[in-house]
Amino acid sequence: MATSVLRVEGIAKSFGGVQALKGVSLEIGQGEIHCLAGENGSGKSTLIKVISGVHEPDAGRIEINGKHFSHLSPIEAIKLGIQVIYQDFSVFPNLSVMENLALNMELMDNRKFMNYKRARKIASHAVAQIGFEVDLDERVENLSVADRQLIAISRALLQEAKLIIMDEPTSALTKKEVKALFAVIKQLQARGLSILFVSHKLDEVFEISERYTILRSGENVASGNTVDLDRKTFVYHMTGRQFEDTHYEAPAGIGQPVLSVKGLSLSGAYSDISFDLAPGEILGITGLLGSGRTELVETLFGILKPDSGNISIKGKEASIKSVKDAIKHGIGYVPADRLTEGLFLPQAIRRNLVISVLDQLSSRLGFLRTRAIAETTKKWIQNLSIATKNPEFPVRTLSGGNQQKVVLARWLANNLSILMLNGPTMGVDIGSKYDIHTLIRKLAAGGLAIIIVSDDLPEVLACASRILVMRDGAFIQELDPSATTESMLSELSTGIA
Ligand SMILES: Nc1ncnc2c1ncn2[C@@H]1O[C@H](COP(=O)(O)OP(=O)(O)O)[C@@H](O)[C@H]1O
Ligand SMILES: [Mg+2]
Repeated sequence: MATSVLRVEGIAKSFGGVQALKGVSLEIGQGEIHCLAGENGSGKSTLIKVISGVHEPDAGRIEINGKHFSHLSPIEAIKLGIQVIYQDFSVFPNLSVMENLALNMELMDNRKFMNYKRARKIASHAVAQIGFEVDLDERVENLSVADRQLIAISRALLQEAKLIIMDEPTSALTKKEVKALFAVIKQLQARGLSILFVSHKLDEVFEISERYTILRSGENVASGNTVDLDRKTFVYHMTGRQFEDTHYEAPAGIGQPVLSVKGLSLSGAYSDISFDLAPGEILGITGLLGSGRTELVETLFGILKPDSGNISIKGKEASIKSVKDAIKHGIGYVPADRLTEGLFLPQAIRRNLVISVLDQLSSRLGFLRTRAIAETTKKWIQNLSIATKNPEFPVRTLSGGNQQKVVLARWLANNLSILMLNGPTMGVDIGSKYDIHTLIRKLAAGGLAIIIVSDDLPEVLACASRILVMRDGAFIQELDPSATTESMLSELSTGIA
């Protein structure tokens, strides 16, 4: 390894009764992109705060450029060239890009008033260093999250950063923005900077890093060269659980289709779509954004109206003109963004779980039957292994994966025959993702017909019993997941070999 810019050893840190770090070690070489991975709560942010002088560790040593410290102050850390880009980016939204960039420089030079000519020069130089094109007079609040990050990175460079730490920088970025950020990270590396990139996303770790460290419950359980790491090992270290990769096969002899779609078309979205779905099947529909996949399921759920074609449920032509009609026909739909659509985050888990069956559970006088609600809640928390200490806690206290389970439970309480899921594990950590997949298979094996719309190819391959690939509004191919690889699927959905 190149000379190390940072080495920490045996770092321990407790908050009250919680031991967030239990003797963690980590070493980063000059010019290295190092991934710090771990599930939520594993201690990643706490470690960063120790490195950047925000928290004083209870034990351990920090070595920076060969110098030893038992702890650092934030100012010392900055002077040593350590810069953190936090999840909330620490930029000032009500100031302009230029002011954000030049402010610290001016303060460091002990100037009382900002010299705008000088500030503009500093700022334009800063953004040019990473090839970032932005209007320097724009107020930061009008910029995207991705652009704010680039401002924070430019500012870090102005302060002569040697090690830039990014705490889960991609969590609010689109795929395209992630690509652009990765290009900037590579540029920083080419200038000899070191990057500590925090993520719990497998693909990102493989794509960007040379070395990795994985934390689990405050301990580092693995570190090494990323090229020596495979997906299975990575997931094992992250979760401490061994997952089988198997394919789901629909039970044999499952009988008549519960859903039959014939020649369905919606101008500008999709055209001439036909398929059958039987109970126990999991149909995976994949395709790029804009392939028409979401519009198709939204039509089946009565949100959009098709121009032509027909839909039959259990052999009878069904007229689905509204969401109400869809639900009447036993169709459920979990949209892609569970957080904005469907959950009442400040309300109790219990209340969120029973909300769709509320009518059934209330007596004629409108009183809620407390016992029935308590029983229903208990049943679903158990069935779906929703990890919570108390169903009275607000839903927002649950992890993303567990919130997703609450959404599922609400639908399942409704006697569905068809359940459609759009991006069912988007933004969910690996352990919960596996649990949700297991649950989906269990539901299908129990006779539910399921449609999963997803561009997460490993997910589609693992869950579906049949895959339909959509491109430009048409089904271009049907595939058997047990005979399909991720690269075949990617080629088909993008049209790029
Ligand atoms: N300031 C704090 N006070 C109390 N507990 C904390 C504090 N910061 C972190 N923790 C706890 O320490 C553990 C690790 O948290 P964190 O470092 O934020 O994890 P990660 O960044 O990997 O998600 C969690 O259990 C968290 O609740
Ligand atoms: Mg964190």
